[in-house]
Amino acid sequence: MSRLARPISVAPMIDVTNPHFLQMLRIISPRYSLYTEMIHSNAIINHREDISRFAGVAHEDTVVQLGGCDPGNMALAAKIVQDHGFKEVNINVGCPSDRVQHGNFGAVLMKTPHVVANILNEMEKTSVQIPVTIKCRTGVDDLDSIEFLHNFVIQLSCSRPPPHIIIHARKCHLRGLSPRQNRNIPPLDYNRVWQTAKKYPQAVFSINGGFRTTEAVIEAMSKIHGCMVGREGTCSYHLNLVFHFPDANTILSPVMDNPMFLQQLDRGQLFSIDV
Ligand SMILES: Cc1cc2nc3c(=O)[nH]c(=O)nc-3n(C[C@H](O)[C@H](O)[C@H](O)COP(=O)(O)O)c2cc1C
Repeated sequence: MSRLARPISVAPMIDVTNPHFLQMLRIISPRYSLYTEMIHSNAIINHREDISRFAGVAHEDTVVQLGGCDPGNMALAAKIVQDHGFKEVNINVGCPSDRVQHGNFGAVLMKTPHVVANILNEMEKTSVQIPVTIKCRTGVDDLDSIEFLHNFVIQLSCSRPPPHIIIHARKCHLRGLSPRQNRNIPPLDYNRVWQTAKKYPQAVFSINGGFRTTEAVIEAMSKIHGCMVGREGTCSYHLNLVFHFPDANTILSPVMDNPMFLQQLDRGQLFSIDV
């Protein structure tokens, strides 16, 4: 039995998991945890009256993903998100884009786990009571040993440790690869995630990266608490593109052959309730 209320989640994806898209996924199935696109803490702070534009209406299945590195701003943003009724916040520690690196957040934070811990501690001080979770990679550049990943996890054991860590099972290269290449070229290393989950049985982990079939998700769920699906989970990702670029319909027609993956999962014996 998973220790997560919604063990399977749809990954945060910029330009994909916007409020409209999340609403569509809820219609397809109500069972999944849905992550918003990464939203910078300053965007939340500067548009605090209007955060539904970025995150939609607060819904119990929604996790708002924050980007940023300043503990004070991240804590304030999380508090605003909480005050708007959202039930969970996630910190992006995996995005390798140049702009994000330039802002000292995303994947570069893996190199400075004490900054992530400071953010979590500051959130504690700012009365953020909703769960604050982390989404990271297995490593960055040559900091890619299992010891590095384990040290990262240990360093998060601050006064407010994250109740859930989602690991994208590949490292990223901070130089020379685009974000898209960084989602495809570094090889997936599921073993590293299984080993980490085994080493820290008191913590709750999800695995992410390359899950394309119900069978693969079922297998993952036998080894770890949660599984996050991105590109495939949103076969509807392509549908989203079709919404934005109607002319792309024909190029993206394969999606027509691929029924909603969330519905496939619903039917895949992952849940005891009949659908
Ligand atoms: C278009 C796109 C945008 C993404 N944006 C984010 C993001 O905002 N935050 C984040 O943590 N990961 C982001 N990711 C990475 C995904 O959350 C996920 O880790 C990655 O796609 C691997 O999972 P998958 O193989 O199931 O797609 C993005 C991925 C894609 C394809």
